[in-house]
Amino acid sequence: MAATIVIFGASGDLTSRKLIPALYQLYRKGRLSSTLNIVGVSRTKFTHAEWREELARSTEKFVGESFNSENWEQFAERIYYQPGDIGQPDDFTSLSKFLDELEGGETCTRVYYLSTAPRFYQPAIEQLGQAGMSCESNGPRRVVIEKPFGTDLKSARELNRVTHEVFAEQQVYRIDHYLGKETVQNLLVLRFGNTIFEPIWNRNYIDHVQITVAEEVDVGSRAGYYDSAGVVRDMVQNHLLQLLMVAAMEAPVRYEADSIRNEKVKVLHAIRPLETEQIRDYTFRGQYRGYTSSKGVEPTSRTPTFAALKLWIDNWRWQGVPFYLRSGKAMSCRTTQIVIQFHCPPHNLFENSPTSLGESNRLVIQVQPAEGIQLHFQTKVPDAGMKMRQTDLNFNYQKEFRGAIPEAYERLLLDALEGDASLFARADEVEAAWKVCDPILEAWTARDKPTLFMYDPGFWGPDECREWMLAQGREWFDTC
Ligand code: BG6
Repeated sequence: MAATIVIFGASGDLTSRKLIPALYQLYRKGRLSSTLNIVGVSRTKFTHAEWREELARSTEKFVGESFNSENWEQFAERIYYQPGDIGQPDDFTSLSKFLDELEGGETCTRVYYLSTAPRFYQPAIEQLGQAGMSCESNGPRRVVIEKPFGTDLKSARELNRVTHEVFAEQQVYRIDHYLGKETVQNLLVLRFGNTIFEPIWNRNYIDHVQITVAEEVDVGSRAGYYDSAGVVRDMVQNHLLQLLMVAAMEAPVRYEADSIRNEKVKVLHAIRPLETEQIRDYTFRGQYRGYTSSKGVEPTSRTPTFAALKLWIDNWRWQGVPFYLRSGKAMSCRTTQIVIQFHCPPHNLFENSPTSLGESNRLVIQVQPAEGIQLHFQTKVPDAGMKMRQTDLNFNYQKEFRGAIPEAYERLLLDALEGDASLFARADEVEAAWKVCDPILEAWTARDKPTLFMYDPGFWGPDECREWMLAQGREWFDTC
């Protein structure tokens, strides 16, 4: 079926940095329908040709070597631009007319991609409704909503309510690009496409799980947005909780959107709510030195750029197994990893048997940038009695499969066009994620909020966070 993707916020950073490069790569690989049209909408007054030229420059910059001018020219023929203001109903009438003409009245899938500033999500959805653009009489109509979906539970509920007045839930695709990452999907395969991991993936064998999303970059030019969001809204409520859900969920009955999302949301419901008096013991907030001198940040800002949390999942599989989540900007390196730390052996047979968790079995799932999986285990040192040393089995994506790992947006855009919502968040899922985060956000802004620890850029967050972990007999796995 023919398809049109309409990008609201066309002149924005996400469009040029991620969306158009991903669509171009899909085109280059022959994955897009030959009748796909791409229509950009924003207030800037571009002609079709001007927007194409602008995108040619940015796409070349972001896709690097895989850019090919001839290929681009063919791809660009399907790109159009329609100026429009989300506040103006007339602009939606014109847009609707433009799309109808472009599609020639044929049955066509339409994906409305909201890549605008979050405050425009609600008005854009309302305008689409008023212009009758969600009606599916001439083909499927879907809306893709970028993160952040709300700023707390209340606003997320309101956004869901407004969205559902215009679109049915199966038309709504709430995006979290972490789910589009190959290695995150591979976690499902690792767990449910193999037999050896699942039997030990539980409290009987696992001491704790660590999920780290460390970024080397600081807030850069996004300080204005970031200062009002902070690390919990920017990273924890979405990306880290998504990783936690995939690591902790039960096997879905089928590989199908609702089966998967049912299992994921059960994990969120099982997370023990943090009581106000526990926030000091179970959460940790930090800010990198120099943050307050960034352009767009209040000099007195107390916005956390680093967070560490200890969460408990109250179910049979995970009872008593803490999940440590941590994320920060301006850290030592860029790395996203999930560490499954197994118990120490129950009885010491050899002269230097592991007695600390650091020496015990550990499975490290490297989500990025060195995509792969390592299994650490003890090995006998040759010619040294029964002395042991930690060694590892190392699976590396690049070595094994060669070729570049696709950008998350490629997979997600294709899924949205094809109507597969498996890797998108459902309404109840985003609300349940806010339910986990709201008490933390409230306690962190209360009068007697926990200390904001400072850290130097280029390190693994505040020293106090390392000590906090050591005091629990555990250690962060600080490896790039
Ligand atoms: C975004 C956050 O959702 O994810 C950014 O808003 C963050 O602050 C980014 O830098 C990280 O994404 P990735 O794919 O580079 O890990």
